[in-house]
Amino acid sequence: MPLPDTLRPDSLRVDARLRLARGLSWVAAQRGDHPSRLLHWPWRENPYPTYARLREQGPVVTSSLGFLSANSHAAVREVLRGRDFGVEPPEGFSSPAQFRVVDLSFLQMDAPEHTRLRALARPAFTPRRMRGYASEIEKITGELLDRALARGGFDLMADFAQKLPIAVISRLLGIPERDDAEFVRIGNLLGGALDGAQSARHVRQIRNASAELDVMFERLMAERRRDPREDVISALVADTDEGRMSAAELRDMCRLLLLAGFETTVNLIGNGMMALLRHRDQWERLVADPELAGSAVEESLRFDSPVQLTGRWAHTDTEVDGVRVRRGGQVMALIGSADRDPAHFAEPDRFDITRTDAGDHLAFSGGEHYCLGAPLARLEGRIALRALAERAPGLRPTAMPTRRRTLTVRSLSAFPVTTGSR
Ligand code: HEM
Repeated sequence: MPLPDTLRPDSLRVDARLRLARGLSWVAAQRGDHPSRLLHWPWRENPYPTYARLREQGPVVTSSLGFLSANSHAAVREVLRGRDFGVEPPEGFSSPAQFRVVDLSFLQMDAPEHTRLRALARPAFTPRRMRGYASEIEKITGELLDRALARGGFDLMADFAQKLPIAVISRLLGIPERDDAEFVRIGNLLGGALDGAQSARHVRQIRNASAELDVMFERLMAERRRDPREDVISALVADTDEGRMSAAELRDMCRLLLLAGFETTVNLIGNGMMALLRHRDQWERLVADPELAGSAVEESLRFDSPVQLTGRWAHTDTEVDGVRVRRGGQVMALIGSADRDPAHFAEPDRFDITRTDAGDHLAFSGGEHYCLGAPLARLEGRIALRALAERAPGLRPTAMPTRRRTLTVRSLSAFPVTTGSR
């Protein structure tokens, strides 16, 4: 994808523009503009009090900078499902330049292109495929835990939560084993890009990371064309040969699948385990009955969602939960706020793995863009939490976890734990 002129990393104006945008929202945040606060530390380290203030202000709130935030469960659901909204700006409007740094295929497209490309990716995530992946995920989980638990003390993120989804999505796509740490670095850079680029240097880093992936995917596509295997890339290469998508579209789709596969499930496991170990009674329940792993996954997704927000544009003058939104309105749909809405969930700030309506969360979005990988994420999450509860019942933190400075993706970078006795 050619870089938009406004974001040529060598342009001196890039830094000025990006820093100005950040500076303006910082000033708005300081003056008490709650939607802007979500874009900055310290508020975004723990966004839940800001979400509560926003819900008190209304289901939809207009920031002093002009964008809107959808805060209630009803409003977020309406924005995600509503036909009046799209992920692309309507004619006459354009996305702020800092958000146009990485191409994430059909995640960033409206119908009809979205429909065509999503349909091509869908066969990789059917229930039959999931049954096929389960034993592989169990095997990888077992091997990772053998190594980590043998050491007693380990980093739940680096030694387990990051490694499992990377191994799974790599095998599914057919990517040969490679240096995990290098992959984590690329994933973090591209995942962080969802919050918008912050400087010319940042734009350059993101573009380089994306280019590194492109080289790898182009090589893989050529190899699979010559020598097809049982993996997703081989199946998709056939679609390009038969004219259903171009080679460039396939490369962008692979980038999306890889990133979606390893910037999210990592945090379902990390955020879920942090909640479980901080609410010891809930961990003990899971240890006593590992069959609860499925509902622990749903409650973790609700309580501390790996993807906290997503964006939509109003394509026509419309109404959301009784509030008027004009065509061209840019809405930040706050998934993390929706899932703590007391109008929808009783005692939403309580972490309870036996909650029966936890599955009503919007962690996987809704409508046309509902997460394609949700069955895979749920399967991995269930296998991971169950295995940890069965094999490390005495698990406990040994230090405060370290948080990554991102908002869209809510993520820990380190979480030291020990298997010590209970
Ligand atoms: C716990 C883990 C996961 C969470 C919380 C999650 C969350 C999300 C969300 C919120 C969206 C929609 C964003 C929007 O509406 O703008 C989405 C889309 C998507 N996810 Fe996931 N995801 C997870 C795991 C996965 C996995 C493992 C894959 C597999 C590769 C995946 C593939 C996708 C794809 C391809 C889309 C684009 C769907 C579309 O635009 O039609 N996700 N995900």
